[in-house]
Amino acid sequence: MTNKTRSYVVLTLALYLACAAGLAQSPGEATYKAKCQSCHGVAGMAETTVGKALKVKPVTDPEVKKFTEAAMIEATRSGMGKMQPYKGKLSDAEIKDAVVRFRSFMK
Ligand code: HEC
Repeated sequence: MTNKTRSYVVLTLALYLACAAGLAQSPGEATYKAKCQSCHGVAGMAETTVGKALKVKPVTDPEVKKFTEAAMIEATRSGMGKMQPYKGKLSDAEIKDAVVRFRSFMK
């Protein structure tokens, strides 16, 4: 391989990886969408019918902002108010990823 060819290969590979990383869903995205979005809303604003009916707080609520990541994982694992416990239904990793996704809406 000439040096020129080699740099093309490296460049193509780098571009490919950058695109793949950009397009890939974050690990919690699919879980959040499937398991949490119906109540917490597309972007955590709890604007859904169920979210409103259950008075789910939006991520902008000061009460929600007080939660640390660990406290949110615990609330999701053990349940909170009208939210069922997800322990046993989702793996710890899925719960964590879904919480990370949820928290990404707080910024
Ligand atoms: C059936 C509706 C419902 C679903 C589905 C649901 N939640 Fe909740 N969630 C609630 C309710 C109700 C509360 C307690 C009221 C409140 O404070 O928003 C709550 C509270 C929380 C809290 C504590 C902070 C807060 O917003 O008060 C977190 C974190 C949370 N949910 C994350 C999740 C995650 C992650 C999922 C998906 C794995 C999920 N929820 C699925 C209804 C739901």
